[in-house]
Amino acid sequence: MKPREQERTDEGFPYGENAAMLPSAGVRWDLLSDSLQHHARALARFERSPVEPEADGETCETLARELFGFPHNIVLGQGRQAEALLARLLVRPGYAVPANLAFPTTRLHQELCGGCSVCVAGAQAFEPEESSAFKSDVDLDLLREALRGQVAYVCIECSANGAGGHPIRLENLRAVRALASERGVPVVLDATRIFENALRIRDAEPGTKGRSVHAIVRELCGLADAMTLSLTKDFPTRVGGLVALRDETLYQHGLDFELASGSGLTLGGRAEIAAALRHASRDLAYIERRMALVRRLHARLAAEGLPVANPPGAHAVWIRVDAWVPHLRVEEFPVEAVNAALHERFGLRGSPQPAFAREPSAAASLLRLALPVATFNEAEVDAMAECLIEFHRIRASIPGLRVVHAPAVPGGPFRATYARCGAAETVAL
Ligand code: F0G
Repeated sequence: MKPREQERTDEGFPYGENAAMLPSAGVRWDLLSDSLQHHARALARFERSPVEPEADGETCETLARELFGFPHNIVLGQGRQAEALLARLLVRPGYAVPANLAFPTTRLHQELCGGCSVCVAGAQAFEPEESSAFKSDVDLDLLREALRGQVAYVCIECSANGAGGHPIRLENLRAVRALASERGVPVVLDATRIFENALRIRDAEPGTKGRSVHAIVRELCGLADAMTLSLTKDFPTRVGGLVALRDETLYQHGLDFELASGSGLTLGGRAEIAAALRHASRDLAYIERRMALVRRLHARLAAEGLPVANPPGAHAVWIRVDAWVPHLRVEEFPVEAVNAALHERFGLRGSPQPAFAREPSAAASLLRLALPVATFNEAEVDAMAECLIEFHRIRASIPGLRVVHAPAVPGGPFRATYARCGAAETVAL
């Protein structure tokens, strides 16, 4: 059965052809983000226990301490608030922050504090064709070089988006830890997708077979001095961020930051986070189900010849747009053009690879299709695949875009509006 196309409206495409700016409720298949925060269907497939106020002695902070092993924990409304706090604690003007491809919000906070993100990801992170399993590994020679200068901290994203959602090995993180310690530099994890990373370690890193995922998570955390986390990706909650620290003095400064800027949380929000932390301490089946859905989508698309990045990522499938719509030049914003056309025709959207558009890297030509946890089932993923396969047939008819307006600030490209370069004829391939 052919997937149903969206009805077109006379007003054309709202939000200046920038599909990422549309509200989630108007999108049939919303793969913009795996964040449950703004997802119209968030947790549609999750058995929600009634959210209770935190029981005595079992606050979000104690639950986080038990799960990850850091003595000091500060729970906030969002991951990027955690990043703001951490950057404020550790980054000084002129200091570098070596990273295995920092997430845009992480990087923005480092830069707002006067720091400078330096990429120390291994070459495999930039090779979507390459099937190696651990693409988030750090290139230790690059790190050694970066550590010669003034360094605020080493920033490691688990299942890094910039590397296609692939994990970092325990062995690589141990080596990172050792190099950083030699120079007295702290290591900070962005543990937003640490469960997928730990699952991949259990399944593919030599010497870890049979270990529990929670034990591997604690070992990863044990190699870091601090951690930031957005809870809305790997935990069944629509709210939450976390900063976890070992150092008591930094913790006290962190609490001052929270005192000054607030946590952004209501009691209801804290109760939802506590329920989610409790759930994830017991049962990670919802994470494994999401990973299976990602593999299913990847396999369907690969079988039909769509240029998907390999292997499937932890939380998303990436499509190589340069290979998909080669008739569009880089100046015609092929990723945004594909996203706008996918939404217009099939009500499906993904997101441009989360990395600053000003980076002229290969990563910039990837479209990410992210699947949130506990939200979609197999039949829905199959329906999404049908849309993408149908789009594959008509892709040569997709017009390019030109910028109408892009605010001249670092985050401006995310809010840019576009217009079509000129209607192309519909051609079925
Ligand atoms: N770190 C990582 C690795 C993330 O993926 C995100 C958000 C954040 C930090 C910020 O957390 O949204 O709670 O403020 N990622 C979403 C995404 C937006 O689509 O990948 P937040």
